[in-house]
Amino acid sequence: MKIIRAQDYNELSSVVAGAVITKINHFSDLEKECVLGLCTGSSIVGTYALLVKAYEQAQVRFTNVQAFNLDEYVGLDVDNPQSFAYFMTQHLIHKVDFGKGMWHIPFLTEQLHDNAIIEECYAYEQAIRTTGGIHLQLLGIGQNGHIGFNEPGTGFDSATHTVRLHEATRQQNAQYFGGIEYVPQEAITMGLSTICNAREIILLASGVAKAQALKAMIEGPITHLLPASILQFHPQVTVVADTDALSKLSASTLAMLAR
Ligand code: GLP
Repeated sequence: MKIIRAQDYNELSSVVAGAVITKINHFSDLEKECVLGLCTGSSIVGTYALLVKAYEQAQVRFTNVQAFNLDEYVGLDVDNPQSFAYFMTQHLIHKVDFGKGMWHIPFLTEQLHDNAIIEECYAYEQAIRTTGGIHLQLLGIGQNGHIGFNEPGTGFDSATHTVRLHEATRQQNAQYFGGIEYVPQEAITMGLSTICNAREIILLASGVAKAQALKAMIEGPITHLLPASILQFHPQVTVVADTDALSKLSASTLAMLAR
């Protein structure tokens, strides 16, 4: 696991945006499709803003990109401002030149019966597999160590599935909904095996609220009680974090940082 220390949120965003642009342009030079896994949340907003800026300045195009979002609340339509789909359209998808049908996000309504849910999860996995797999997956991290919506206790072999959200996760997201009572109870998410099948992963973390989860992910045991710890198994993970998020790492880990 490589760890890049950014001085602040702006530097973090610029490092991650730079890596994404390099990846897209690498595949574009080869005239091949670049498959990205995308995440939502406050940590990634700055990165998407820089990607949009780079697109406007003709430093990158998205015509060779196919993208899959990590997760979504169950029951929220794409035009619901609290949905991750809406977040994506506002911050990236509608602001750059993605080809039609090249951006995907899992979607479930509340009324679906079990078979339809299984079919949607399977179809999402299949859609990713059909591309040949994700080249670069972007990830945030929850304060309880979740990635995507894979809450503590999720099996390491999990594929795309539905999840009952933990109270702590609903609490963290309550600010976006105007109160915890409005936060959906369920979500659909890529599983931990889906995420780990990506060839390369960048995990972003900003702020002191993420410091404990980040320490456990990097220095703690690999355990399903902290889903992000599975990333220790993955050969190509880069953590890009600001000083606050790295503030709880031990002196020996800090001494090994790339910068
Ligand atoms: C939600 C998403 C996660 C994301 C996390 C962190 O829980 N399901 O995929 O990583 O938020 O978001 P933020 O960057 O806002 O802290």
